[in-house]
Amino acid sequence: MFLNVLHSKSEFMQNNRFLNACLKKPVDCTPVWIMRQAGRYLKEYMAIREKMPFIEMCKTPDIAAEVTLQPLRIINLDAAIIFADILLPLEKMGIGFEFSKEEGPVIYDPIRTERQINKLRVIEPEEDVRYVLEAIRLVRKELGNKVPLIGFSGAPFTLASYVIEGGHSQNYLLTKKMMIPEPALWRKLMDRLSAVVIKYLLAQIAAGAQVVQIFDSWVGCLSPVDYSNFVLPYMKKIMRALKKGRVPVINFATDTSGVLGLMREAGGDVIGVDWRIDLDAAWKRLGYTVGIQGNLDPAILFAKPEAIKKRVRDILKKANGRRGHIFNLGHGVFPGTPVDNVKALVDMVHSLSAR
Ligand code: CP3
Repeated sequence: MFLNVLHSKSEFMQNNRFLNACLKKPVDCTPVWIMRQAGRYLKEYMAIREKMPFIEMCKTPDIAAEVTLQPLRIINLDAAIIFADILLPLEKMGIGFEFSKEEGPVIYDPIRTERQINKLRVIEPEEDVRYVLEAIRLVRKELGNKVPLIGFSGAPFTLASYVIEGGHSQNYLLTKKMMIPEPALWRKLMDRLSAVVIKYLLAQIAAGAQVVQIFDSWVGCLSPVDYSNFVLPYMKKIMRALKKGRVPVINFATDTSGVLGLMREAGGDVIGVDWRIDLDAAWKRLGYTVGIQGNLDPAILFAKPEAIKKRVRDILKKANGRRGHIFNLGHGVFPGTPVDNVKALVDMVHSLSAR
């Protein structure tokens, strides 16, 4: 099924640990990558960022490619993730936004009415977000098959929460005020966002992404019954459509203790979990037929290496050498994290898990 990714010419030189773990195949040691591995904790990133706004970096393929590769030159990572943002496809759907230094993402005209939803375009990725696809092509050329490249998208719920709230939210009240009292409106918005997610991810795969991760970062704010009614059908539809891409899919969210079973039902080859749940408890609930990604608290990376090692050992012990564990943080690495600790973390994961 995954012939296109696994049988390329330079098979003997490539590091397939991450792809193999996604497919629940044996590995020589546990693969590890870090969410937000390209970012502000790296001085190499900041040197470029000081001269250029974040969105400009995303929209300039050779810069985005360079920034994608920066952490791989410094840290022994088992995968690259394309430098982009989950909000990028919104612009050409007709939803203007910016990143403000203080508040993070700001949507200019938050989506609250049927008239606004009717006007939203389903994007044509090769025209509308060509810069992301170009960056993917450049990174693949540069990387060869050294390590696999991850593409990504926001999930429809998490994207909907940004476009309805107008930015980040404490309680997702505006989102829930559309979802529950106005289900027809909600469904129309979710339909449109899901269509975009499918096209966008298939285009990334066609451009060379070898795995894709769907970030449903904020879906943990929902009750299981609301996930089931208002999110699950769309996630299932996306997962079904992505089968055409023939690459592994990671379904990631945070704070998901209540909805893990439903995320499993939604689909994905690997489910991403954060540190609020023990890895073994989460995996048991998911069933060992699916892979799991996680789940160190990114705050631990501010501790001393010995303390980090204890937590790494604990997570590896909970994974118990089963096939299908990918080590990661439970959420993105914080700006200000000591780079030496990130390096040490990755080396620890490899050495402590060597089979
Ligand atoms: O993981 C990687 O290295 C790939 C790059 C990546 C970024 N954003 C770059 C980024 C990825 C995978 C994302 C995903 C993303 N973006 C998510 C899902 C993951 C998560 O954290 O839950 C979300 C919710 C966003 C939206 C977003 N983008 C927010 C809320 C913010 C501001 C908060 C913050 O961390 O600054 C961003 C900005 C952003 N995205 C930066 C980077 C490197 C910082 C931009 C800068 O340099 O100023």
